[in-house]
Amino acid sequence: MEEQQQEHSPKDHYDLVILGASGFTGKYVVREALKFLNTPSSPLKSIALAGRNPAKLHETLKWASHPSPPPPLSIIKTDVSDPSSLKDLCTKTKLVLNCVGPFRLYGEPVVSACVEEGSDYLDICGEPEFMEKMESIYHEKAGERGSLVVSACGFDSIPAEVGLMFNSRQWVSPAVPNLVEAYLSLESEKRIVGNFGTLESAVLGLANMEKLQELRRSRPRRARPVIPGPRPPKGAMIEHQKTIGCWAVKLPSADAVVVRRTLAFLTENPHGLPGVNESDEQIQRRTNFWSTVKPAHFGVKIGSKSLLSIFRIITVGVFMGLLGRISFGRWLLLKFPSFLTLGWFRKNGPTEEEVRSASFKMWFIGHGFSDSSLVSQGNRKPDTEIITRVMGPEIGYSTTPIILLQCALILLSQRDNLPKGGVFPPGIVFGPTDLQERLQENGISFDVISRNALPG
Ligand SMILES: NC(=O)c1ccc[n+]([C@@H]2O[C@H](COP(=O)([O-])OP(=O)(O)OC[C@H]3O[C@@H](n4cnc5c(N)ncnc54)[C@H](OP(=O)(O)O)[C@@H]3O)[C@@H](O)[C@H]2O)c1
Repeated sequence: MEEQQQEHSPKDHYDLVILGASGFTGKYVVREALKFLNTPSSPLKSIALAGRNPAKLHETLKWASHPSPPPPLSIIKTDVSDPSSLKDLCTKTKLVLNCVGPFRLYGEPVVSACVEEGSDYLDICGEPEFMEKMESIYHEKAGERGSLVVSACGFDSIPAEVGLMFNSRQWVSPAVPNLVEAYLSLESEKRIVGNFGTLESAVLGLANMEKLQELRRSRPRRARPVIPGPRPPKGAMIEHQKTIGCWAVKLPSADAVVVRRTLAFLTENPHGLPGVNESDEQIQRRTNFWSTVKPAHFGVKIGSKSLLSIFRIITVGVFMGLLGRISFGRWLLLKFPSFLTLGWFRKNGPTEEEVRSASFKMWFIGHGFSDSSLVSQGNRKPDTEIITRVMGPEIGYSTTPIILLQCALILLSQRDNLPKGGVFPPGIVFGPTDLQERLQENGISFDVISRNALPG
């Protein structure tokens, strides 16, 4: 069921539809999208908002366009549990931006409808099980139907994907990286708070870890990249990272898994994925880009200057890990989110001021060899360090909408250069595009911090 706010609203074909626009993240995505609607040189000429509650969608539009009056966007009533409303939605749009989570619960019917109708699909999922399951079920069909399905187009996991590529491209031949570790630091003058939706998704992820392992066991093994040098040792649980001056502990985010999938696709397609209708010049550009990306072992840690904060992070991790495994524990976590996560998640999310005052830094510390021949000569100890950094505004509700919108704009303006269809991680699809430059123009920076020789 579709409502037109004004007569001149687009009737039957939108450049993109934001599904779940009324959600906490969805409304920030709408605000970001409006910045690019009908502006000079923007490919975005028509947007519709979709969700199960039209009144909430109207409120969202008012909030997102404030202080300007709401533009005449179409509001489409869509319930993801109703396949006919999803089919109807997908026949009307080139691209769906899905903000309805947890994706494990609500995502599959949306992917299925997009694939069936040949629409493109991007989401802000951070749930590895959902991403891998969608790949295993829909990859082939999406390829046939010309539907490009890309999850993790938010803070999970584009800063990690593009950030790793950025670091890896600083290793100019004959230099090669061996290990790149990312250290995430969240900063704010106020509190750092996540919305309940993200906690719910994380808790469901914990509950279904076994399912993910099962899924992986049931699928053929993916190709592994050849990484020069020895496999790095595991290291201590709490690391004192002296170079950037912080304490750090492993972050069980989706990032490393998503990066691994991109590296698997790259190993299987060393020149990247051919575009559906590429020019010779574009083929050259894509091939050149991937020839400069060198795979490395990769992991993500969360860091803080204060050891006390690291203990808080560990405490929350232990609470979530233990409680997330049993249904009563999950009930407790979702009933008392703020208490059991020591204030990290709140039922009604962060205030606008809390969002505005937060930011992130992600340091990529790469260790490798100044000359790849050193490895074949039996040299096992990296002799070079390259540090790069990605930096931007608050992760969930500022950076995520910025990234999602830039991916959408690339999709709308450079569709010929992207694969015809399939289910892919974002790095392999957007790596050779101008995504990094676009992020930089929109407040997310990429810098080389230092190159050092390591003591022998
Ligand atoms: N990648 C990242 O870094 C990142 C950042 C932020 C969020 N996320 C993810 O984004 C997801 C959403 O988070 P959130 O905090 O925005 O959650 P939220 O506020 O609960 O929003 C959920 C949205 O889904 C809609 N929805 C629920 N059931 C539906 C149905 N049956 N049919 C249609 N729409 C339905 C809700 O509609 P109503 O308004 O009608 O209830 C709402 O619009 C989570 O999975 C979260 O982890 C990821």
